[in-house]
Amino acid sequence: MRVLVTGASGFIGSAVVPELLDAGHDVVGLARSDAAAEALALAGADVHRGNLEDLDSLRSGAAAADGVIHLAYVHDFSKFEDNARIDLRAIEALAAALEGSGRPLVIASGTLGLAKGSVATEQDPGETGGVGGARRLSEHRLLELAGTGVRTASVRLAPTVHGEGDHGFVPMLVNIAREKRVSGYVGDGSSRWPAVHRLDAARLFRLAAESAPAGTVLHGVADEGVPVRAIAEVIGRHLDVPVVAVAGADAPAHFGFLAALLAADAPASSALTRQRLGWEPRQPGLVADLEEGHYFEAVPLGS
Ligand SMILES: NC(=O)c1ccc[n+]([C@@H]2O[C@H](COP(=O)([O-])OP(=O)(O)OC[C@H]3O[C@@H](n4cnc5c(N)ncnc54)[C@H](OP(=O)(O)O)[C@@H]3O)[C@@H](O)[C@H]2O)c1
Repeated sequence: MRVLVTGASGFIGSAVVPELLDAGHDVVGLARSDAAAEALALAGADVHRGNLEDLDSLRSGAAAADGVIHLAYVHDFSKFEDNARIDLRAIEALAAALEGSGRPLVIASGTLGLAKGSVATEQDPGETGGVGGARRLSEHRLLELAGTGVRTASVRLAPTVHGEGDHGFVPMLVNIAREKRVSGYVGDGSSRWPAVHRLDAARLFRLAAESAPAGTVLHGVADEGVPVRAIAEVIGRHLDVPVVAVAGADAPAHFGFLAALLAADAPASSALTRQRLGWEPRQPGLVADLEEGHYFEAVPLGS
């Protein structure tokens, strides 16, 4: 298959590209800069120049491909709703180019905000209200578009996709612990955070593009829920700083926007995904990955 990958130069995309190539597919990466184009060429992918807001570039890229994996996203948390709208329009443009072809369109979504008070499953539709639900609209629209002859699938990723090169929530926690000289968790630290290794996530995207039926929801989740206290403990040990409870009222000042995420118990299951696609995580879990030490190498404490 010749697969167009948007976000191919990103943290997860740069694992999806070799995953597809190794399985014998051809890859065309969407690139919006010379740097991204060079990185893609080095990785063995062809390059399609374009941008999420240049819908013609998305349509022409998708029309020339046998399938699309859509990973590009504007990660500016101050413009959450605008970015969700850009994503929705991009998905509609990609789907329009594939209409009636039965070709796959696999998108990245997330498990955050799904089930409240229980373990989220692939069958939870998720809410579209409020700022947090804005991105869920993209998934709901994608699933509707299964009716237009596109083999649509949504891979809901755990909020922590970890591994070498992670620039998400866990490195932010490490940095906060460095700055504050304590590794904190909110409340009693029992809130659970799901996680998946980027290489396992990459394999799931490939499997979805190869064989997920139209309208499938999948969960890229390996650890169903790691207690945030366990994450704080590994960080504290590696940075050699005390591990402390931070009261809910003090959490926003300590953790910034991460406070709400750390306080939310948000476990998620991938049982149906494993059954449907035979996907099994093979990489270390989040705590084991943190124990390997690469999250702590960049800047020595105190520098
Ligand atoms: N990483 C996680 O922990 C995590 C968790 C849950 C969900 N996700 C989702 O998984 C997907 C991939 O995440 P990631 O961590 O790999 O993201 P990332 O490392 O931030 O990469 C983002 C990618 O999107 C591209 N991009 C950004 N704005 C663009 C635009 N306007 N036009 C074209 N391309 C644009 C970037 O291109 P440049 O190289 O040119 O910047 C880059 O390739 C995203 O949808 C993300 O929200 C990630």
